[in-house]
Amino acid sequence: MKSLTKIILPSALALGLLLTACDNDKFPEPEVKDNVSFALDIQPILTAECASCHNPSEVEPDLREGYAYESMEDLIDEGDIIPGNAEESELVEMLEGNSQDGNTMPPAGPMSPTKIALIKKWIDEGALDN
Ligand code: HEC
Repeated sequence: MKSLTKIILPSALALGLLLTACDNDKFPEPEVKDNVSFALDIQPILTAECASCHNPSEVEPDLREGYAYESMEDLIDEGDIIPGNAEESELVEMLEGNSQDGNTMPPAGPMSPTKIALIKKWIDEGALDN
């Protein structure tokens, strides 16, 4: 029995360390669901994936927390976001890497499909400041 404990305890410890390491992602993968909230679901994606470049000292639009929805309103005014129609929204084409004018956002390549799906859902639900 004693030797069994010697094996199980260190293994459990190692597994714990391993799981902690995997959990260290800067932003956990979101799940796609209904009633997407801009503040709770979309802003964290923009903060993690966009705001390092999209801030006053780098490039417009400003996508930092507290400023991003105003930028979204500009994108709506310019027709790059069509509330209720993600499929026709230029922003979505940029996120999916198939924009006509060649801009992919983030420039390094598309985010995970779940993050893009969540933003599409938010647009389809009206692109609200909710
Ligand atoms: C590594 C830096 C970087 C990251 C990260 C980044 N962008 Fe950009 N983005 C840029 C640059 C640079 C431009 C200007 C490109 C140009 O004018 O050709 C730009 C332009 C844009 C524009 C305006 C495009 C236009 O046609 O005027 C939008 C909207 C945009 N980005 C959205 C996003 C979103 C949303 C994210 C996160 C999902 C993101 N970007 C992540 C660098 C970045």
